[in-house]
Amino acid sequence: MRQHVNPLSKNFDKIEKIPPLIEMFVDSKLNLHLDIGCAAGGFLFDLALSNTNWNYLGIEIREKLVKTAKLKVREREMENLYFLFGNANNILIDFHSRFIINNIKSISFNFPDPWFKKRHHKRRVIQPDFINILSNLMQKGSLIFIKTDVKDLFEYMDSTISRNFNLKKIDTKNFNYFESFNPNKVQTNREQYVLNKELDIYESIYMKI
Ligand SMILES: C[S@@+](CC[C@H](N)C(=O)[O-])C[C@H]1O[C@@H](n2cnc3c(N)ncnc32)[C@H](O)[C@@H]1O
Repeated sequence: MRQHVNPLSKNFDKIEKIPPLIEMFVDSKLNLHLDIGCAAGGFLFDLALSNTNWNYLGIEIREKLVKTAKLKVREREMENLYFLFGNANNILIDFHSRFIINNIKSISFNFPDPWFKKRHHKRRVIQPDFINILSNLMQKGSLIFIKTDVKDLFEYMDSTISRNFNLKKIDTKNFNYFESFNPNKVQTNREQYVLNKELDIYESIYMKI
């Protein structure tokens, strides 16, 4: 059952230790993708199994989901998949994360929680300061992918990211997915649900310039 977690709760102020990339992945030199709000990680398991030339890192705020995902990684002896538990905003502003963001080829925000009420907008994972920190540390040419079925949330995320001078929106229609973290266009859980319901999906890709 889906439970909303308030990311601004004090419970998430303290973050788990962020290991260096060489402790997360067997070959830390592979291209690295970060999925923020990865839930149980099904999407990342599919990606990591079929694209062994990429490393995948998921961050999720629901601890139980991360515990189960970590266990599955160990059982399956997967070498290119790692999960971190906590509020992605707090994790990624930590000093130890700068090495992650520095090495990242791409980041995805797939169907983030919309937090519809205006007074709850500050709980949304995409915030101007957060995007500033990410975009300052990302290498030129690295990408941010956003996807949602909530039009208002899409407009908010799109305007927040577009206002950042380090990031430029790129053409989604002519985008070559083949060379991306998701060459086979694997769908997330929420995406499958939305497509089954025949709802609209709004998406954009931004490049660090
Ligand atoms: C609507 S679900 C989408 C899950 C998945 N990305 C998908 O497309 O199926 C949003 C996920 O983001 C997680 N989440 C929300 N805020 C977060 C934050 N600040 N840091 C990390 N995870 C967060 C939620 O717990 C939830 O699992």
